[in-house]
Amino acid sequence: MKNLINSQDLTKIELEKLFVLSDKMNKRQKKYDDSLKGFVIATLFYEPSTRTRLSFESAIQKLGAGLISTENAKESGSAKKGETLEDTIKIIQGYADMIILRHFDNDSSDRALKVASVPIINAGAGNGEHPPQGLLDIYTIRQYKKEINNTSIAIIGDLKNGRTVHSLIKLLCLYENITFYGFSVKGLELPKNYIEYIESHNAKYFICKDFSEIPSDVNFIYQTRIQTERLENKNFSIEDIILNKERFSRFSENTYIMHPLPRTNEISTDLDDDKRSIYFKQAHNGIPTKMALIYSIIKDFYKNKKHF
Ligand code: CP
Repeated sequence: MKNLINSQDLTKIELEKLFVLSDKMNKRQKKYDDSLKGFVIATLFYEPSTRTRLSFESAIQKLGAGLISTENAKESGSAKKGETLEDTIKIIQGYADMIILRHFDNDSSDRALKVASVPIINAGAGNGEHPPQGLLDIYTIRQYKKEINNTSIAIIGDLKNGRTVHSLIKLLCLYENITFYGFSVKGLELPKNYIEYIESHNAKYFICKDFSEIPSDVNFIYQTRIQTERLENKNFSIEDIILNKERFSRFSENTYIMHPLPRTNEISTDLDDDKRSIYFKQAHNGIPTKMALIYSIIKDFYKNKKHF
């Protein structure tokens, strides 16, 4: 694996290898400390981020690589002066050995890849995909359920614009007997191409109109924020999709709540202390999975060069 642009680029074997390596990174095996010393990695973010950028930057530093970073490239980078993404990539690749890109255009990472001479990781592209989040989400599912096959998951919220859901779907579809229950705000339903993707991979998709239509023994509830920044018409109510203690009370002792975060009010804070609320632990899995991802890509890309 030399880049990560779209989730469907990952094979099941690559994914499983990343999980094994993530486990090692989680244990902070000494051999990986400073294993990327001498490399420099750039984070180039045109959209806001807390988790993705900082967990990538922490992972980079734990591996001993150098970091250059632009957290608000749309305003503080030369995009403000009219520079194209392609030109920016052509410049940064002279300064860094890998570029981690977040951008508002769905095809931004594909465009970057076309001109890049260094590996590109898509860290969120418009309302398209967010593969590193999908990776940490499935790693979390594996941690709590042990096997990924035979997983049922309710995906809730903004299924149209939520790029994390899109990457999660594609990665889960690599496994057997996966069932999705989709419960969205009206107008923000899962796009047809993702439903077709699910069905063409022998997984199942059921549309739910209410929390009560989600089976009480579902393995995971994956709640998401409404992506208001991508909506022209912000006039909608999220009341029906808010998960609170009362609505969660009918679910099983083995149903876990996930969320890619940030949240607004779609998960009420009265659920934070429930042992089945794993969204903060999920976010922290960004470190080992990103360490594994960066290490694997750098190792593969530079195997005949530098010190690999
Ligand atoms: N989950 C996620 O992508 O969060 P950030 O926007 O904070 O990076």
